[in-house]
Amino acid sequence: MKYRKKNFLIENVFAKKLATKHATPLYCYSYKKIKQNVLNFKENFKNINPLICFSVKSNPNKILLNEIKRLGLGADVVSLGELMLALKSGIKADKIVFSGVGKTVKEIDFAIKKKILLINAESKSEILNIEKIAKTKNKIVNIGIRLNPNTDANTLSQISTGKKENKFGVSEKIFLDLVKYTKKSKNLKLKCLSVHIGSQILNHKPYEKMIRVLNRLIKKTNFHFEYIDLGGGMGIDYKNNQKILNLKKYSKIIEKFLKNKNSKIIFEPGRSIIANSGVLISKIIYIKEGYKKDFIILDAAMNDLMRPALYGAEHRIIPVKKNNNKSKKDYEFVGPVCESTDKFSTIRNFQKLKENDLIVICDVGAYGMSLSSNYNLRPKAKEILIKNSKTLVINKRQTLKSLI
Ligand SMILES: Cc1ncc(COP(=O)(O)O)c(C=O)c1O
Repeated sequence: MKYRKKNFLIENVFAKKLATKHATPLYCYSYKKIKQNVLNFKENFKNINPLICFSVKSNPNKILLNEIKRLGLGADVVSLGELMLALKSGIKADKIVFSGVGKTVKEIDFAIKKKILLINAESKSEILNIEKIAKTKNKIVNIGIRLNPNTDANTLSQISTGKKENKFGVSEKIFLDLVKYTKKSKNLKLKCLSVHIGSQILNHKPYEKMIRVLNRLIKKTNFHFEYIDLGGGMGIDYKNNQKILNLKKYSKIIEKFLKNKNSKIIFEPGRSIIANSGVLISKIIYIKEGYKKDFIILDAAMNDLMRPALYGAEHRIIPVKKNNNKSKKDYEFVGPVCESTDKFSTIRNFQKLKENDLIVICDVGAYGMSLSSNYNLRPKAKEILIKNSKTLVINKRQTLKSLI
């Protein structure tokens, strides 16, 4: 993604051309970038040869999932819908792991029927439920137990999942009890210790701490885990100047941890695979003078991209066509939704904009479309994929007819 003669391009296709043809707001992904991210991830962790399960919640587009599967990844799912979608996208059951604190009987039943690699249980009640269902089916089910390692991921509090006050996983004490319990079970086969401490992690230190907890706990259990699922969480550079997680360093920490363990590592990355492959192209409907700033009212809103309203997350905004004139006033980029939190960013010294200009919201490939909604009865945006300079429609724009 770059500029040519001041015009923004995605894999050599002009963003303006895409907006004219497909209308806005428009989600646009670059296949090249996804592939680059997957290869980079694999290269950095090649010394530990992990099973990489793409976190479907970050982007559940069926065609993108199929591309990710072709690049060799499995799937991490958190609902029946995601599990069915992963299978439909061609991902084999033995490369699928299922996390989540509230798996229903129907979900567990389906996961057992499809013989997925692991159900990562998050409570004693869930384990008892899996056992009960397995018993009625006369099956032995492979499970993992998700530990809450009480480790601060040093990320936004809303996307932190590994502290003791978070609902995810079980405490060390309960973990130890459950290992004992599952050892005796005729219908459960404990294979995995799983963790996921949060998302958008930019430094290896939280992971290092988490690994120390795992090491200590594994010694206490005196149990051989065939798999250690370390979750996802690897952060990306949303600001275009951020120091991000050194994957090689993380890989070295894991390599040391694995000595004398004979366990296979599973990762569940979402954001680091798909976030920077996607942009949201949007058109300015109106420019409205406000107190000390101008409101740039876009045709994209919080229903299309929820992260800023939900977590105060920042996404870079750049023009589709650059000019050399700077605006004297600050610009606040907002959507048309009737909420004050429907705003993306306030930017100083942005180039001068006018109504009908196009802008690009960057790095929206993860938790962009997947968190979108029909709030204010707005149809969901169209999604396209640029692959080898060809444009593929991978999700049609929702119609009002289908909503009303
Ligand atoms: C259990 C689990 N695994 C993996 C992920 C993916 O995280 P990320 O997109 O930060 O890699 C999440 C995200 O919240 C998660 O809850």
